[in-house]
Amino acid sequence: MAMPVSVTGALWVLCLCVQALQACLIISEVNCDNPSLDTREFVELYSLGGSSVSLDGYTLVFYNGNGNKAYRVIDLSGHHTDERGFFLVGSAELQPRPAVPLPPNSVQNGPDAIALYGPSWNHVVEGGNLSAVGLLDAIVYTSGKGNADQLAWVLTPGLSPYVEDDRALEGDESIQRCWLSDNLYTFQTGHPTPGRPSDCQPASFSFLHIFRIRLAGERPTELEVSGGFESGPLTAVLYDIRTDTVSTSVGFGHSQALPIVVKMNATPVSNPFELDGWALAVYEGPETDFPRNSPLSPLQPLDAFVFSGRTNSPSANLTETLIPGRKPFRNSSGFPEGDAYISRCGVANWTRDPGMFQLLPQRPGESSPCVWYNTCPYGQGNVSGTNEPFEPPSRSDNDFLLSEVNADSPGAAEDEEFVELWHPSGHRTSLNDIWLLLFNGNNGKIYREIELYGYYTDQQGYFLIGSDKLNPQFPIPANTIQNGPDAIAIYRSSSPPSSEGLGVPKRGLLDAIVYRARGSDRDSAELIQALTPGHLPLLEDSAALPGDESLSRCGPDRLNHISFRVASPTPQKENDCPHPPEGIVINEVGGVSGARGSLFVELTGPPLTSLNGLEIAFFGSDSASQVSLKGDIRQNRFYLLKNGSGADQSLPAVTGLRAVMLCFPLLGKVSVCGQNSQVQDLLVFSDDQNLHNVLHSSPQQTVRPVSRYDSISRCAMKGSTVWISSDSPTPNVQNICPSTAYSKPLDLCLQPDHRPFNCNVEVSAELLEQSCHCGLSSLHLKGVNLTCLSEELYVKGDVLAVSEQQRELMAQTLQSKHLPSCSISHERIYVKGSSLGLQVGLVLAVVLLLAVGGAIFFYLYRKKRPQDYYSMELNEPESPIEL
Ligand SMILES: *[C@@H]1O[C@H](CO)[C@@H](O)[C@H](O)[C@H]1NC(C)=O
Ligand SMILES: *[C@@H]1O[C@H](CO)[C@@H](O)[C@H](O)[C@H]1NC(C)=O
Ligand SMILES: *[C@@H]1O[C@H](CO)[C@@H](O)[C@H](O)[C@H]1NC(C)=O
Ligand SMILES: *[C@@H]1O[C@H](CO)[C@@H](O)[C@H](O)[C@H]1NC(C)=O
Ligand SMILES: *[C@@H]1O[C@H](CO)[C@@H](O)[C@H](O)[C@H]1NC(C)=O
Repeated sequence: MAMPVSVTGALWVLCLCVQALQACLIISEVNCDNPSLDTREFVELYSLGGSSVSLDGYTLVFYNGNGNKAYRVIDLSGHHTDERGFFLVGSAELQPRPAVPLPPNSVQNGPDAIALYGPSWNHVVEGGNLSAVGLLDAIVYTSGKGNADQLAWVLTPGLSPYVEDDRALEGDESIQRCWLSDNLYTFQTGHPTPGRPSDCQPASFSFLHIFRIRLAGERPTELEVSGGFESGPLTAVLYDIRTDTVSTSVGFGHSQALPIVVKMNATPVSNPFELDGWALAVYEGPETDFPRNSPLSPLQPLDAFVFSGRTNSPSANLTETLIPGRKPFRNSSGFPEGDAYISRCGVANWTRDPGMFQLLPQRPGESSPCVWYNTCPYGQGNVSGTNEPFEPPSRSDNDFLLSEVNADSPGAAEDEEFVELWHPSGHRTSLNDIWLLLFNGNNGKIYREIELYGYYTDQQGYFLIGSDKLNPQFPIPANTIQNGPDAIAIYRSSSPPSSEGLGVPKRGLLDAIVYRARGSDRDSAELIQALTPGHLPLLEDSAALPGDESLSRCGPDRLNHISFRVASPTPQKENDCPHPPEGIVINEVGGVSGARGSLFVELTGPPLTSLNGLEIAFFGSDSASQVSLKGDIRQNRFYLLKNGSGADQSLPAVTGLRAVMLCFPLLGKVSVCGQNSQVQDLLVFSDDQNLHNVLHSSPQQTVRPVSRYDSISRCAMKGSTVWISSDSPTPNVQNICPSTAYSKPLDLCLQPDHRPFNCNVEVSAELLEQSCHCGLSSLHLKGVNLTCLSEELYVKGDVLAVSEQQRELMAQTLQSKHLPSCSISHERIYVKGSSLGLQVGLVLAVVLLLAVGGAIFFYLYRKKRPQDYYSMELNEPESPIEL
């Protein structure tokens, strides 16, 4: 349904709207892509004062999403906006002519960004890094291809890049800044309007909303509502904000003709102060539900408007109830002569927000146009230098979570209730398009729907919605959150989730919990079914802790009650969850072949660390079993699980061991190191895909045991772990790792079967091990030089071993003819030659010249192509291999 409010039109500047707007400069329009040649590109800046202002100290930086570096930096010092506030940077051929002309095709088509900085910025040069220091305004856009996540993450945290669709409109289109409400702006696609106000279209939505209030002096006389298909009776209620009681209520029904005009002047006003400030709300229900002098209704209105007077300010209770999270309307500049309207002008698609209305005088025979831009957007996007986030969150599952809920605080006041949201990035993030919905368990209906557009989390990613006493970012009246059985859910949606229709909305659901109070075992099956199927409602057990308690997220999974536990409330702080003991890992597993020695698992960690809470799971060939660890790590840093003497703990029954997992279940007892465990260490001995699937996304280290060896030991190489098969198990003592004590000189040329191959130590070790079966790993080749030609791999240096036996084994097998060796001539020549690849090539060439003419030719041809040649050396200083 189109709204009859015109948001287009000339810049009709009303003095009250532009106060405090001195030099608020915004990026108001971007056209980065024209049909065929890009000769009419531009970036339009606009000064919200609507007049000529100096641009001294401002800089415009263009960033490329491919590499995230600045590709153009334009210092605007010395320039001015034109007398209407506009300033254009763009193609020289553009009309009107830009103040800063650019060559054609200068503005990249996305994924890219354009950022406007003020004087306190950190200088960015062409080719320089992304910065948010001193940032005033930015647009991040893509053309649908490519990724602008890093740009968005730094410049507009939490917002999605604007997707520019070059087929959105006939002919050319641009990205235009449109005013939503208060100091919130959005972008829309429209026909380009360089040097003119944007052509912003109001949101089209069907739910009931107030779009105009007619005033006589300061009194609301007529309310015009539009949209909505509520079938029952509706009532418009005028509140006296001094007492939060009903002054007047007027019932009306839905009619076919829109807008519906509701005359509010039914009751004469006796007291002159009574209407210095007022509130209007439209409710579902008959007029008789809202009798004169009755208190503020706890019902949620369909739409509401709160007007703060010169002497009377609305109470927090009234604003939190009628216009949650939004500010009342203030008029600081007096009323126009004659009739005036308060008109809905912002293009936002939500209700209950006076911020999107403007006070406009009624001129005879014309409807007054809205002011194009209203308030300065700065302040919302204030990223201070020290907190500049550089790394975008790496998790793919990266949206808001319900972090903590305190639905029931001790005492009757219930004034410490809250809902805490958290963004897994752990950084300041926008809550645009995030909604919080509260559901009533008795009827499955929404009793509160809260829009969080325009809000940001704190620097750690937390956002608190709660009672005033907790100093939340979003205050709600005390005793708003019902005690259960009820549900709380968050959504990402560009329109109110409730507009989806009857029942619990499904689209955009991010996270939810269904909870009950002690003693309430009434059915919440409907909510469970819709939000967290298969789970039991959570119980915020008021007897669990001496003081207050909350439902706190301790596990990572969304829409999963197992992630929550009852803990002490920690609003806007890290939840009070148990932490795993630190630094404990699997150090050695013996008896893995099942053939020789008996099974043991050795853990290592800081001496005397308690293992409380840790579990160890054994995945066998047909079953898995798990034991809880007891006691502490010994003074000697070890802990041994084994059946027999010298052990700290015995083992469960295991046949055909395929994996060992050390985990920390976050919440009570869960099935075998299940989803709600934090994996501390995991060692897998099998390539079985089913097993890998069961072990879900845990970081895995797959080790293939060597049949002749019985134990697998953790050894360190350059800070990472290498698992070494060993023939001498070392339970309760230091592992034996490959050492120079058992080394053997090696000089080999190998030709891997599969090409191309990676010229690295892992590939070489794998290649040698395929022939050797002697437990050779990359750590054994630690001191070896590798040289690679396109099809050959030269290995020269001392190979390490764990024991005399292994050294002998290597000596026998690596000299044998089972290796995928290079052709004889190459090998022999290599062995005679120098270790340096270039010299090898030279000698090779000379000898082959004397031998086979054709071969030289071929070789020389290849020598000329240096891209075929690369080399890698691994000659670190010899250092003792530490554990
Ligand atoms: C950009 O950042 C990288 C990595 O932090 C740094 O090495 C480089 O010097 C920076 N470049 C500039 C121009 O500041
Ligand atoms: C807020 O308004 C509700 C509804 O009228 C009322 O029950 C409650 O007592 C008020 N709270 C305060 C703190 O005034
Ligand atoms: C931005 O943040 C800094 C530091 O936190 C503060 O000093 C400054 O006043 C803020 N600016 C605005 C416009 O909020
Ligand atoms: C260890 O001993 C227990 C009984 O004490 C037995 O049930 C279990 O199967 C044994 N485990 C192994 C791996 O031998
Ligand atoms: C490995 O190469 C380096 C230089 O390339 C050389 O100094 C070193 O002696 C070589 N080591 C062996 C074991 O050949």
